[in-house]
Amino acid sequence: MIRPDPVSDPVHADTVHAGPVIALVPAAGRGERLGLDLPKAMVPVGGVPLLVHAVDGLRAAGVSAVYVAVPADQLTQSRDLLGATATVVVGGADRVESVRLALVRALADFGTDDFHSGSGRATLPEVVLVHDAARAFAPPEMIRAVIDAVRGGAAAVVPTLPVADTVRAINASGVSAGVVDRDGLRIVQTPQGFRLDVLRRAHGHAAEAGLPATDDAGLVEAIGETVELITGDARAFKVTTPADLTAAEDLLARTRPPEPAMHPTAAPRIGTGIDVHPIEAGRPCWVAGLLFADSDGCSGHSDGDVAAHALCDALLSAAGLGDLGAVFGTDRPEWSGASGVRLLGEVARLVSEAGYDIGNATVQIIANSPRLAARRAEAQQVLSAAVGAEVSVAGTTTDGLGLTGRGEGRAALATAILVRRSPGAQS
Ligand code: CTP
Ligand code: MG
Repeated sequence: MIRPDPVSDPVHADTVHAGPVIALVPAAGRGERLGLDLPKAMVPVGGVPLLVHAVDGLRAAGVSAVYVAVPADQLTQSRDLLGATATVVVGGADRVESVRLALVRALADFGTDDFHSGSGRATLPEVVLVHDAARAFAPPEMIRAVIDAVRGGAAAVVPTLPVADTVRAINASGVSAGVVDRDGLRIVQTPQGFRLDVLRRAHGHAAEAGLPATDDAGLVEAIGETVELITGDARAFKVTTPADLTAAEDLLARTRPPEPAMHPTAAPRIGTGIDVHPIEAGRPCWVAGLLFADSDGCSGHSDGDVAAHALCDALLSAAGLGDLGAVFGTDRPEWSGASGVRLLGEVARLVSEAGYDIGNATVQIIANSPRLAARRAEAQQVLSAAVGAEVSVAGTTTDGLGLTGRGEGRAALATAILVRRSPGAQS
């Protein structure tokens, strides 16, 4: 089947199903009612210029090429801002002229520069949107509804909203001329959508006939085409006054996905450590930095303090520094035989050197003996002093089960939280 070319054969082109969509964005106004030093399209909302919001919205809706008309003195900056997302041209003295200049550039890009002929390439886009940069927050679903209406066969589509306020007419001298029936009125928004051939004929006719500048749909009506209305969206309001700018900031703040509460690199770091030692009759019993005279100790090179060793591994793992074996291995013989609490002090120093503060640490001792409860406060004090942060100590048994339950050994499980020290802070 030969598809009718909507440009050369507009009579048969009443149903346009797919194909590229382009957008023309008039952004060449000075924004006098806003009263700022820079043109309205360059005014930031949420730190991003309105023009960028407008172009982003169009592209999010599936528009494949965007042509923007800006004031001459904004050409370079706009090109820098928009990069490959849009083609930027210098706009005209009024809005319609700015749209026409963007259209001329688009047609040139697509291989035709004549508003009337249908000599363009087959790749000519079928749908063209005209969208005010000042309506930067038109949601993509509204933009797609306009596109769909043109694809569904409309020559021109205008999103509108009912008038909420009572409207009063005045005469030439500003004297009241009665209330106007607002049911018969609609507020006009953009993007307006057109079949490309219709918009190019409308602008060609307007330029020749010197029609007064209205909106693009008005120019289309002037060549006898029908304008279809669809329901607009409050978010497509035009930023015109300082109050509108505040509303735009609020709208953006409401729709923007929440910032992550905490950047992953700023999140606290957790570490765990486990240590187990066999019990050996006659050895001094060191647990949690304390000597228990009435219990047998653990065997091993060091004092066999499972609590201190588990805490060391928890801190090292939280800092990503490895484990006890890696840090105090054979290449650091001066540490062989060192007490658990001395090792713990050195680990805390290494952790600090790596840029972390210790939030807190916990250790649970799993053993039949010694009885810790009576000396818990003392143990917490010794370990906290070694680490330089709060360490809590708990004890449990395994009800006669396993190596700790049979009294063959002792185990300890520790947890530590580190936070990255902010640059420049003292350790
Ligand atoms: N516009 C344009 N070229 C012009 C005048 C206006 O492209 N010569 C654009 C504006 O940049 C805006 C849209 O048309 O995106 C609607 O115009 P308006 O809201 O009136 O913007 P400004 O003319 O910039 O504002 P003001 O009238 O307050 O000066
Ligand atoms: Mg204006």
